[in-house]
Amino acid sequence: MLLLSFQLLAVLFPGGDSEDAFQGPTSFRVIQISSFANSTWAHSQGSGWLDDLQIHGWDSDSGTATLLKPWSKGNISDEEFAELEEIIRVYFYRFTQDIQGSATKFQLKFPIETQVTAGCELRSGGSIVSFFRGALGGLDFLSAEKDTCVPAPEGGSRAQHICKLIMQYPAVINIVRKLLFDTCPRYLLGVLDAGKAELQRQVKPEAWLSSGPSPGPGRLLLVCHVSGFYPKPVWVRWMRGEQEQPGTRHSDLLPNADWTWYLRTTLDVAAGEAAGLSCRVKHSSLEGQDIILHWGHSISTASIILAIIVPSLILLLCVALWYKRRWSFQNNP
Ligand SMILES: *[C@@H]1O[C@H](CO)[C@@H](O)[C@H](O)[C@H]1NC(C)=O
Ligand SMILES: *[C@@H]1O[C@H](CO)[C@@H](O)[C@H](O)[C@H]1NC(C)=O
Repeated sequence: MLLLSFQLLAVLFPGGDSEDAFQGPTSFRVIQISSFANSTWAHSQGSGWLDDLQIHGWDSDSGTATLLKPWSKGNISDEEFAELEEIIRVYFYRFTQDIQGSATKFQLKFPIETQVTAGCELRSGGSIVSFFRGALGGLDFLSAEKDTCVPAPEGGSRAQHICKLIMQYPAVINIVRKLLFDTCPRYLLGVLDAGKAELQRQVKPEAWLSSGPSPGPGRLLLVCHVSGFYPKPVWVRWMRGEQEQPGTRHSDLLPNADWTWYLRTTLDVAAGEAAGLSCRVKHSSLEGQDIILHWGHSISTASIILAIIVPSLILLLCVALWYKRRWSFQNNP
C-alpha cells in the first residue's frame, strides 16, 4: 500500500525531490480565434501561451503583439520579433479576406467561427514536436503533418478541398514549415530559459474548509478549498485517518489572476459522520509537509465560541449592567 502511494506520488510529481527536475510548462502555442458575423464584419483574437499561462496578446487595431511578461520575447532579437509580427499581420489580413471572399464558393454559412492553434512541445527525452490544427464551427477541420495539410474526417469534402488548395502555395507551406520546425523550437527553449525564475517557482497553497449547500436531509457537503499554489499538479483528498474517502470530488483547476491555481474538493457525507474527517493536501512546494485540516476541530470550536459563548457573555453583561443601574438609581434618588 505504502509502495503504491509512493508510486502514485512519483507519477504526480515527476522527479519529486531531484533538484534539476523540470517543473512548469513545456509547450508554446499561439491561438487564433476569428469570428465572421456576415460578409463584411469580422473580428480576430490572437494570443500566445506557455501551456495554460498566457504570455502574449494581440492588438488587432495596431497589428502588434502585446508582451504580458518582461521576458515574453525569450531570446528572439527585436528584428526577428518585428518580422514575426509582420507575418502575423499579413496572415490575419489574408485569412479574413480569404474567408469572406470564398464563403459562397465553399458554401460556408454565416456566422462562421474558426479556431487555429499552432506551436511546439518539449518532450521528456528532450525532443521537440510541432503541431498545427484548425477548427471550423468548433469541429476539427485540418492539421499539418510534416509538410502536408491533412483534412480532418469531421471537415468532410470541404476540408479535403481546402487542403488541396493550400498545397498549391509552396511559399505559404515554406513559411509555415519554418515557423513550426525552426522558429518555434528555438523560441520555446529561449523563452523557458528567460522566464525560468517565474515558470519554475514554487508557491505554497493556502487551504480552508467550509460547508456547501446541503445535498439532502441529514447530509452535509464538506468543502476543502485549496488556492494560490504553483505549479499546477496538486493532490487533495478527504481522509479518515490514513484512509482516502472514495466519494471525494474535484472541481476543475481554476486560474487565479497571479498565475496560481485554485481547486475545490468536496465530500457528501451523512451529518453524523463528518467528525473525524480531514482534508489532506500534497504539493511540490510543501516538500512533504502535507497540509491537513480536520473537519469539526477548527469549525466547531470557533462556532461554539461564536454561537453560544459570546452571545451568552454579552447577555450576562447586559443583565449585570441593568441590575447595577437599577441598584444605583434606587440608592441615589
Ligand atoms: C454585419 O454584422 C455586424 C455585427 O453583428 C452588424 O453590425 C452589421 O450591421 C452586419 N452587416 C450586414 C451587411 O449585415
Ligand atoms: C535562443 O536559445 C536557443 C536555445 O537555447 C538557441 O537554440 C538559439 O540559437 C538562441 N538564439 C536565438 C536568436 O534564437
